[in-house]
Formats: sequence, C-alpha cells, structure tokens
Amino acid sequence: MALQRATIRLAAAVVVALLAPQLPLASAISPQGPGNGLGVTPQMGWDNWNSIACQVDEDVILDNAKKLVDLGLRDLGYKYVILDDCWSSGRSDNGTLLANTTKFPSGMAGLASQIHDMGLKWGMYSSAGKYTCAQYAGSLGFEKQDAQTFADWGVDYLKYDNCYNEGQEGTSKLSYDRYKAMSDALNATGRPIFYSMCNWGTDYPWNFASTIANSWRIAGDIYDSFDRPDPRCPCTTWDCALPGFHCSVMNILNKVASIVDKGRPGGWNDLDALEGPRQIPLIMGNDLTLMDAPSLSILSNPAILAISQDSLGTAAFRVWQKPAYSSQNNTYSADLYTAGETYFWTGRLAGGDQVIAFVNAGAQQQSLSATIDEVFVDYVTTGSSKPSVQTANTWDVYDLWANRMDDATAKTIIDGGIQSLTAPTPSNGTNTTTAAAAAYTPFNVTVTPYADAVKKNDTAVLGVKVATLMAGGSVKADVPSHGVAAFRLRSQKMIPVAGKRKRDEL
Ligand code: GLA
Repeated sequence: MALQRATIRLAAAVVVALLAPQLPLASAISPQGPGNGLGVTPQMGWDNWNSIACQVDEDVILDNAKKLVDLGLRDLGYKYVILDDCWSSGRSDNGTLLANTTKFPSGMAGLASQIHDMGLKWGMYSSAGKYTCAQYAGSLGFEKQDAQTFADWGVDYLKYDNCYNEGQEGTSKLSYDRYKAMSDALNATGRPIFYSMCNWGTDYPWNFASTIANSWRIAGDIYDSFDRPDPRCPCTTWDCALPGFHCSVMNILNKVASIVDKGRPGGWNDLDALEGPRQIPLIMGNDLTLMDAPSLSILSNPAILAISQDSLGTAAFRVWQKPAYSSQNNTYSADLYTAGETYFWTGRLAGGDQVIAFVNAGAQQQSLSATIDEVFVDYVTTGSSKPSVQTANTWDVYDLWANRMDDATAKTIIDGGIQSLTAPTPSNGTNTTTAAAAAYTPFNVTVTPYADAVKKNDTAVLGVKVATLMAGGSVKADVPSHGVAAFRLRSQKMIPVAGKRKRDEL
C-alpha cells in the first residue's frame, strides 16, 4: 500500500531530527560530553546567523525570543536563544570582552536576564581564534577570562567557532587542545554552559571532542539549497581538506551518514542550523518574526520532535542510497547529483519502537519501499540464518506527519499567538479561530515530556496508524520531490526490548 499521507515536502529539520535520537544519562554507559550534565538529548533553539547574520541588536534578539514563546516553540523544547557573531566592541584595558552597547543597550547581563524571564536560555558566540569569523575579538588565549565573563553574564550556551586560529589545526591533537582550553574554562566557572564546538569537521571532531563538548559541527556552513553541488563546499565525504561553506542539505547528510554513531547523549554531531522556511541539534535558523504557516507546522510537529528527543539515544543510520528514477529519461541515472538520490534510514527508539525515513532528493515524486529485513537489518546480519524476533513480528506503522497541525491552525497561531487557540470568544462575538484551530491542543513538554507522551500512546507523538508490516512484507511510500516520509513502527505484541546496539564499530 502506498502511504500517500506520509509524505511532506522538504523539511531539512526533520531529516536532522531523525538522525539524532538519544539515551538517558542513567545508563550503564558513561555519557559523552564535558561533564556538565547537559545535552542528554540534542539541543533545540534558535540562532540568528542564517537569517540576520551581523544585523543583530537587542530588539531583533528580543523580538525573536518573544516569537519562540508566542508561537508555542519554547513549550515544544526550543529553549536556547543564541546570539551569533558581531555583538562585541572589543576588550577593555584589562582584557575583558565588551558588548557593543549601541547594539545592546541593556548589556549582555541585562539581555540575558530578559531572556531568562521568558523561560528561555541564553546562548552566545566566540571563536577559538584571534578573531571571530566576522573579525571581532576572538577568545584564543583569553579562554579563562572570557569563560568567566560569559558565566557572569548569565550565558547558558556557547557556540565556539574556528576562524583565525593562528594555524593551530591540522592534527586532531592541535584542535583538541585548542577547544579543550575553553571546555575546561567553562567548567571551571561552575555554571553549566552547553559547549557547542563549531570547527566545521576540521580534524574530525567526532573522534576527539566527545569528552570535551556537547556538540561539534561536522561540516562547513549550510545554506538554503537542498542538493545543489557547490565547489565552495567541495566534498560529500571526508577526504576533503576544506570544509567550506554553501553546503547543501544533501551534502551534509551524505557526510554524516558514516559517523552517525558518534552522536550519543552528552555529545552530538551538529549538522548546522535548520534551513527551514527561508527556505538544524535542532537550532532554527530562520527569522521567527517572518514565520510562515507551513514552516511553523513542520517545526512544531511533536511526532518528529519526539524522535529527535527519544530517550534511547541511538542515532538512526542509512541502510541504502539509490539514484532517483526519472520518467523523462525513463531510467535511473547513475549520476546522483544530476538525477537526485533517494535514501532509506532506520533507527532504534526507546521501548522497542523503530523509526524509518525515506528521503527523496530527486526532481520528481518517487515510490520508495523497504523490506522488513531492511528495516531491521541490524538484527538480521548477526550471522544467524534464523529469522530475528523483529523480522518475524507484526508491526503497526504510524505516519509521523499525519497529525501535524494544518496550515490554517498555524496561521491562527502566527497571527494571534499560541494563546489565541484557547482564548474565549471576545464580547463582540467575533472569533476568527477556525474549528480546526479550536480543536488543536498545543503540545507542551514541560507538562508532558516526549518520553511520557510516547509511553502513554499520545497520538500527538505517535502519529496515525496507516499500515501493518508483517514477516516477509515491506513498507512503501510515495515521496514528493525534496520530501521525507517518516514512520514510527510499534510491535503489536510485547517483544524483548533489544539491548543497546553493539558498539564495536567505534
Ligand atoms: C562561521 C560559522 C557560522 C557563523 C559565522 C559567523 O562561518 O560556521 O555558523 O557562526 O561563522 O561569522
């Protein structure tokens, strides 16, 4: 059966969400990370760089922070507000970092306090170099002093870039030492500050950063292209000296495919900010004050967010990559970039559930399917000829897109705020809220954490059952161009929950 309802046009956010599900710290395995207890699941929030770049000031940051609250995004878990580059006016005579008070009249401590009052967390940016990428003061050599300044300002998150690093790169050890200096300095402040390394994959941070950072960028800068090749982001694999910029979503997905296992609770692969409407941990990169309805609907889908924030902490992996079919040429092209490519991803979730996703980077709709052996490939490649419990089982297939809010509801929220859904009819009797919007219950993770909602079979996180997958069967989906179909599979009967995946591949 083709699952028409399961498809949706490009949501790069979503693809990334699927790549990064996770495990609780109360695990027998020590968590990754710098020991600050943060990043048990991938971070969620907003960063201004992709939409506003250097045009930052206090009003812009506060306007966007307010939108996180008004649009219901904070309550879905998007809690970090991250001020990127271009906020500084240099250093004082004693070397203390200074904020530009023309742009930020309240000062950084004042701004942080306003952000905290909104129930949000405050993030800032610096570089492990002499300058930041936009040539403001960098923190190389000033790690202890700057970490303390950030802590004094009430900072909860540091994005730490790689520009002007004075040549201190080229081996993992050089990069490790340079980034560890800030990790140690942040820890020494005693304030838990999420440490987000941004060295673009240089020197393979997934091999050295897992004990010093909560996340590490794996590639050059993303931009709002799904699959356009660009020589400024030269490689789709790791035999590449220059991470570059203008990296498409597919370029970055192809890079992460071989290192998904490096992301675990406490330390995650970072694919860069989400290229949502302006056209990703889940850091939105769009101007929230210009949010449109389809984007809000995609970014707000609890069924997808629950995959990203799943408590098992095991990343999904790619089972296959195939060229897309072209009806124009009536053929499958061998050239992935010309014809576009298709992917099938699968991953374990808490409680024995499984998530699967079909990605279509082709220029036209594709009918994609995966066998039950492909869905549970990890269980059938252990050298046994006996069918695994999983492949002999019957599974309910839930469409993770089916319950997302409709565009009219999203528009109601954009126009009147999340509170307008539950607002009483005004005394003049005019209420423009649509019936669908009035019936929509916003999801709130502070009331019901994702893991609890999943256990309670809340349809907001489960989606809608659209098929059954049995022994010998397959799952099929019609996936539109630049689209992703995503499903949660749940066993019809209790089966022993599989242990953690053997990690000998590390
Ligand atoms: C680098 C980073 C970007 C952004 C800019 C700011 O390019 O990779 O994410 O922070 O610097 O100048």
